[in-house]
Amino acid sequence: MSLPTEQLIELRGRLEKNLGDEPGIEGILARIERWGPDLLAGVAEIYPGIDLQDRIIDIVSNGLRARSHTLRMRDRVRLLTPDWFQRADAVGYAAYADRFAGTLKGVQDQIPYLSELGVTYLHLMPLLEPRPGESDGGYAVKDYRKVREDLGTMRDLAALSEALHESDITLTLDLVLNHVAAEHEWAVKAREGDQKYRDYFYVFPDRDVPDQYERTLPEVFPDFAPGNFTWDDELAGWVWTTFNSFQWDVNWTNPDVLCEYIDIIINLANQGVDCLRLDAIAFIAKRMGTNCQNQPEVHAITQILRAAAHIAAPSLIFKAEAIVAPDDLVAYLGRGKHAGRVSDIAYHNSLMVQIWSALASRDARLLAVAMSRFSDIPTTTAWATYVRCHDDIGWAIANEDCEALGLNGFQHRLFMSDFYSGAHSASFADGLVFQENPQTLDRRISGTAASLVGLGRATTAGERRLAIDRLTLAYAVVMGYGGIPLIYMGDELGLLNDESYATVPEHADDNRWAHRPAMPWDVATDRSKPLTDPGRVYSGIHRLVQVRKSLESLHASVPTRIYTTSHPSVVCCVRRHPAGDLVQVYNVSDVSVALDESEILGHGWTLTYDRISERNLPVVDGRITLPPYATMWLTEPV
Ligand code: GLC
Repeated sequence: MSLPTEQLIELRGRLEKNLGDEPGIEGILARIERWGPDLLAGVAEIYPGIDLQDRIIDIVSNGLRARSHTLRMRDRVRLLTPDWFQRADAVGYAAYADRFAGTLKGVQDQIPYLSELGVTYLHLMPLLEPRPGESDGGYAVKDYRKVREDLGTMRDLAALSEALHESDITLTLDLVLNHVAAEHEWAVKAREGDQKYRDYFYVFPDRDVPDQYERTLPEVFPDFAPGNFTWDDELAGWVWTTFNSFQWDVNWTNPDVLCEYIDIIINLANQGVDCLRLDAIAFIAKRMGTNCQNQPEVHAITQILRAAAHIAAPSLIFKAEAIVAPDDLVAYLGRGKHAGRVSDIAYHNSLMVQIWSALASRDARLLAVAMSRFSDIPTTTAWATYVRCHDDIGWAIANEDCEALGLNGFQHRLFMSDFYSGAHSASFADGLVFQENPQTLDRRISGTAASLVGLGRATTAGERRLAIDRLTLAYAVVMGYGGIPLIYMGDELGLLNDESYATVPEHADDNRWAHRPAMPWDVATDRSKPLTDPGRVYSGIHRLVQVRKSLESLHASVPTRIYTTSHPSVVCCVRRHPAGDLVQVYNVSDVSVALDESEILGHGWTLTYDRISERNLPVVDGRITLPPYATMWLTEPV
């Protein structure tokens, strides 16, 4: 290890001066050795020549002073077990507090439901105070230090996190980094003419610069929020609004913005939040002539935030919400100089899209090509794997991957939209088209997992069974890929699209609300009835959760390798771990497929015991027959 630089010594000196009387100060100072270099490198990259270190250390010190004894203990334990979120027993659940259980107290009452399902990680959708009225599902935050009134208070949040921790469940909250609500105090002050706060945003007096940017900027919500800038009379200027006109992008080149967010992050960590989902992180750095996504500065900024947060609250981790093209994704877990220094978790958007592609085309080869092209991620990080989320699904499928199989990327993406909106003749799905873009012909899709796999359209018992098998297979892939699999509330019961969103004025224009239903607790009681649809779906997912937890090979540090078979519908994934290898076999089609046993066992494996069915691989005359949507997780016999 290189000797500490002068700056590092200064950082340590400042922290010691601020906190010298704190118990456990040696341990705290050691964090400067560990994360100080990351902090300094990030600051030098983004804010060169600006004396920021002392300011940051002062914010960190105040945060540390306010940190409770219980959370400090948690920090210590996590420093000793830094892979706590990577382990095979990790299972995530994402829900809106109100739609799941009314209030934060209600969520606390439902902890037994989560524990029964095997959940260890709960992501509660935006719950900090949003602007009144339309708020993009809470992603237009008015106050980062207050909980939405109808859900409870900060005190309730801290109590909930404590109760979750007692049940070995961690808490993830959203942190919107790209924008604040137009009603946020910073925006209000900017409108009042306060230059300090005007500088928190990108404001332009006329269309000159915005028009130059627009040349290369895509539109995120072309339907209901076209363009990327909004005129504001009080500002007498155009303010950058990538998303809705009421979500003002903040200017991260301003060090004051950085300091505000460091303080917000540590404050949330001090409420007992374990993980922050960095919302829309891809958009926070702007560069003329680009699409202003995935710019290199994004990663340096994340590195600063993470280093500062870790000095104050080392048990806090970050999850990047970067729903970007496959080639840009791995950078959020760190590549090159940022490897392992940025987010700890990132959504595997590409895997999600490829699962839907495989199910629609009954062909897993594209999934195999796309996944094989991913480079390995830092061994200290994890993917968040998922079948669907609260957002629409955009077909982030690379042309090159399609071309490798003689497919046309554009046509394939059109096919996916047709298929999942139910327009294609072979479709089983009933998704909804979200944000049709007449220029690019891009059509994203909304829908619950159960609706997209065809449970809503199934008319016969056989069709229903196939739809449920499809859903279970999709969940098996995400449970088995490594990383934290996320169950989106209701998927465990096979909930269908909720058409009632159209009658709620604030939601009517945004059909993503179709896949954000309220929890029907009466349906949830059917989960224990094996002959009902909710019972079948629940038992399938529950089984996968249980098996997953018993397989050390599912630790996130182990990469998944994929191999195809001679049949396009059958794909295998292998994970090699000193505790025991695992081979997964999936048939993504609705018909049985027979293969020579060597196709599955001919790679040097002797893994013949399927952990899901608890049976040996059924080999008859050297052939293995895989029923429709078969899933097998093979290990050594147990
Ligand atoms: C993220 C959220 C999405 C929201 C957007 C703007 O992508 O998941 O729901 O609309 O950010 O905050």
